Amino acid sequence: MDEQLLVNRLQETFKEDCTGHDFEHMKRVHHLAMYLQSQEGGDIELISLASWLHDLDDHKFVTKNEAETKTNARKLMKELNINDDIIEKVCAIISCVSFSAHQAPVSLEAKIVQDADRLDAMGAIGIARAFAYGASIQRPIYSQTNPQNTLQHFDDKLLKLKDFMHTKTAKQIAEKRHQRLEEFVDHFKEEWSFK
Ligand code: ADP
Ligand code: NI
Repeated sequence: MDEQLLVNRLQETFKEDCTGHDFEHMKRVHHLAMYLQSQEGGDIELISLASWLHDLDDHKFVTKNEAETKTNARKLMKELNINDDIIEKVCAIISCVSFSAHQAPVSLEAKIVQDADRLDAMGAIGIARAFAYGASIQRPIYSQTNPQNTLQHFDDKLLKLKDFMHTKTAKQIAEKRHQRLEEFVDHFKEEWSFK
């Protein structure tokens, strides 16, 4: 497979992203997923493709129809001459990766890609991404009167992620990243209530 072509297409697609879903997110998730695969097993080709392509048809960036049919991921895989059987398998993995996905991952490959994506929402990078995303949807960093603030997202989602990891390797990595989230929230609240 022509990985350079894949990278070029992803760089082009995500070049203007300032919501924490930029090309570097794809690269980190791919790298984490390959590491998880080296420890846990699973089909390398499926994990590699699904981790690279997992946000191409995210419901936040494309139409409902494109998100459901994985239009952009399919188009790119066709361009890369990936066979139809692999394309279907990769699309099935991507469908259960999203945080808001209704299907829980069943295959090891889907579990690994979801773990990798969630790890990138934790720790120092996860903190940076949350505020970037929050700003992109006009949310204040914190508010005691408006529950739609980014610090609230830590309680709603980020601090729960460590308990939703599937693989043993991801659980281990998540421990430290979870601690960093907790420390950050403590420091944030301490400074906010400075007297
Ligand atoms: P998915 O697209 O996989 O369903 P999300 O969009 O929920 O996942 O999360 C992807 C990234 O966006 C994470 O880093 C997450 O913290 C961030 N994010 C999602 N919703 C919010 C929010 N309301 N406030 C701040 N960050 C958010
Ligand atoms: Ni992602």
